[in-house]
Amino acid sequence: MKLNIAVLPGDGIGPEVTDQAVKALKAIAIEFDHSFTFTYAPVGAVAIDETGDPLPEQTLDLCKTTDAILFGAIGDPKYDNNPSATIRPEQGLLKLRKSLQLFANIRPVKAYSQLLEKSPLKEHIIKGTDISIYRELTGGIYFGEKYLSDDKNTASDLCEYSRLEIERISHLAFKAAQSRSFNVTLIDKANVLESSRLWRKVVNDVAKEYQDVTLEFLFVDNAAMQMILNPKQFDVILTENMFGDIISDEASVIGGSIGLLASASVGDKYAMFEPIHGSYPQAKGKGIANPIASILSAAMLLEHFNLQSEANRIKNAVEKSLKLHITTPDINAKYDNVTTGKVGDFIEDFISNPNETNLNFTNIHLGQSTII
Ligand code: IPM
Ligand code: MN
Repeated sequence: MKLNIAVLPGDGIGPEVTDQAVKALKAIAIEFDHSFTFTYAPVGAVAIDETGDPLPEQTLDLCKTTDAILFGAIGDPKYDNNPSATIRPEQGLLKLRKSLQLFANIRPVKAYSQLLEKSPLKEHIIKGTDISIYRELTGGIYFGEKYLSDDKNTASDLCEYSRLEIERISHLAFKAAQSRSFNVTLIDKANVLESSRLWRKVVNDVAKEYQDVTLEFLFVDNAAMQMILNPKQFDVILTENMFGDIISDEASVIGGSIGLLASASVGDKYAMFEPIHGSYPQAKGKGIANPIASILSAAMLLEHFNLQSEANRIKNAVEKSLKLHITTPDINAKYDNVTTGKVGDFIEDFISNPNETNLNFTNIHLGQSTII
């Protein structure tokens, strides 16, 4: 298969983790005889520095003419600490999502058996957790009308949803449930919010087309509690934009590190793949950023094009790296000197040599090839 992939590394640790995902994809292309081309473009704070715009026209144009987008991370402390900044890196990501109509953000959450003891949650609570979060990504409070009074003492953000916006992601969530455990949980705040009541109504209507799927409802406050009390109860979670943002960060604790969570943002025409973590500026260039979320996002990219064996090859290599403790310090109980690049090298090597059993650990620590 020929794929043109736009690579938007962005800020902070974005470039270093994205490099590892690109390495994995290049190894897949060789192994499975595909032709992947990668075209880089700036987004976020680096784009503001270069052009004054967090999403330069050229970057958006590139995204519209490629098959898929691999996204790193955006954000920079110089904007975070300045609430009156009118141009912000995040605007680049939000505009990209909106312009490409990437309305469904899919975030898989899994408790890896190798990492059960890394989570602050008890092992018996998280063991076996396997959730797919469907977060609406182009509507709600993120994109509603914003208001700041002239005296700057009153502000509001409108949370608005239309039936169509709710329907299209709901169909994706129900279809996903049909290939999983046939359960959808809608997370909302229908006891308070009118927009949530619309979600309940529309999702109930959509559910009639999926008789084999059970639909449940949870208020978001209760859902936040259930997520850490009993995460195994969830199969597919369906929710609006901001609740999905919050619940997915919370859910990342189950996996042991936010550095493991990948995501796919899809619409009718375009698709983008990105780790759910942010730009982690404190770690930039230190080689401590976990590249697995980005590498697993590359696996989701392959799945999007029905390249399931290829995606599995990446996932197996990731599992192997976890098993052998070839991981960055955030999840490594054994070694503290495995860098972002070394994890990427190992995964790249393992993709090319999946049956290799003679792994040379010493070389990993010497920074040489991981497989002899
Ligand atoms: C995410 C991020 C973004 C969001 C930020 C960077 C705008 O937190 O992808 O979850 O809130 O959607
Ligand atoms: Mn977030």
